[in-house]
Amino acid sequence: MSDATKDDLLQKPISRRDMLKLGAAGGVGLLLGAGGLTGVLAGTGMLKDSAKAADAQTAGDTVPFYGKHQAGIVTPAQDFICLGAFDVTTTDLGALRTLFQKWTEASAKLAQGQGVGDESGNPILPPVDTGEAMGLNAAGITITFGVGASLFDGRFGLGSKRPAALVDLPAFGGDELQPEWTGGDIAVQVCANDPQVAFHALRNLARIARGKAVLRWVQDGFQRTRTADPNGSTPRNLLGFKDGTNNPDVKKADVADDIVWATQADGANWMADGTYMIMRRIRMRIEVWDRTHLNEQEATFGRHRDSGAPLGEKDEFAPLDFAKQDDKGKLMIPMNSHVAVANMGGKVKIHRRGYSYSSGIDLKTGQLDAGLLFICFNRDPRRQFIPMQQALAAQDKLNEYIVHVGSAIFAVLPGAKAGGCIGETLF
Ligand code: HEM
Repeated sequence: MSDATKDDLLQKPISRRDMLKLGAAGGVGLLLGAGGLTGVLAGTGMLKDSAKAADAQTAGDTVPFYGKHQAGIVTPAQDFICLGAFDVTTTDLGALRTLFQKWTEASAKLAQGQGVGDESGNPILPPVDTGEAMGLNAAGITITFGVGASLFDGRFGLGSKRPAALVDLPAFGGDELQPEWTGGDIAVQVCANDPQVAFHALRNLARIARGKAVLRWVQDGFQRTRTADPNGSTPRNLLGFKDGTNNPDVKKADVADDIVWATQADGANWMADGTYMIMRRIRMRIEVWDRTHLNEQEATFGRHRDSGAPLGEKDEFAPLDFAKQDDKGKLMIPMNSHVAVANMGGKVKIHRRGYSYSSGIDLKTGQLDAGLLFICFNRDPRRQFIPMQQALAAQDKLNEYIVHVGSAIFAVLPGAKAGGCIGETLF
């Protein structure tokens, strides 16, 4: 075996699938940590095979958990989301700190495709990990933690640390918010390219929280998978339009710095390198939309349905020209279209990272309960999301076809270094 392969293996975590295979082949239980396992295998000649398997299963599938910023924000959006909001039940700041420590350790393992902890092997105890992700790779999982304004009430003495930017969102015209989809002390956003991997992570994090925090709501979301669209073109929302075309290119550090990452100068020192997340559960009146003719649908968004191009253009990524007129002198892109209003004269930008949701039918009407799990990240909602949503609520033609039924805002904590803890700058 080459030194490179050895080094690789020693650093590479053993995936859940390797664990299973090894357990079956060599009678190795799930008790061994990665180091112990490597030692055993070196003697069995399985090391090389295992290394190959790990390569195949984890190549491109793991996103580092630790870093200056949390993953799952400017990370390219995975295919599925499982987003949970928790209400904290303990009133002890120390217990809250411990919870974040445990969540951090478990999340770092999950990000590597491992279970949440070392199993005791004691058959008269419940297993540490719930097991449904055994045999699955990390599927590009990211786990992102945020805290809501309600965490800064009297319970933990954190009131003076509430960032000015973590405002209570104002009521927007047309809102029909339901308590079961609104608010929360803590947000845990899990995204992955496999729905079972995502669910497993949230479930196990909820289990770890037992006695300290309880789930308030959970929302699942999806978009087209890489299997269906290996080229990764812009996903379409459930109204059939490409959604995300004109999202700012947050892969560029200067763009992300400008739009996403909070700095010390933005107010709260502990939020430097964090960001603010807004969730809006936006139900679509799908049946009404489906009876609307194509011209009207395109005028609603200001873009062509098939290509995603601005009205009057052919290329999806052609710039929006709000002054362009047709031969009768009519504006090509109506001023009340979704893109015209959301563009805000090019002065206000947010980073959108939403998913579609489908939640069966509304039993009262028999209509589909489906829509957009809108998620955006921004550096200061007072200057970004709020004025944009106020403009949309007042003018957007899309309002005929949508209704906001859930809402939450969270301060997404800065990232942590290996050995550190998410939330260490706050707690
Ligand atoms: C169900 C609700 C919504 C749907 C179906 C929807 C869909 C779309 C579509 C199809 C586009 C054009 C393609 C693109 O550039 O991504 C777009 C653009 C955009 N949307 Fe939405 N959107 C919704 C809600 C919102 C909300 C709540 C906001 C923010 C408050 C928002 C902000 C934006 C922005 C900033 C753009 C880009 C505008 C530009 O080109 O400058 N959208 N949306």
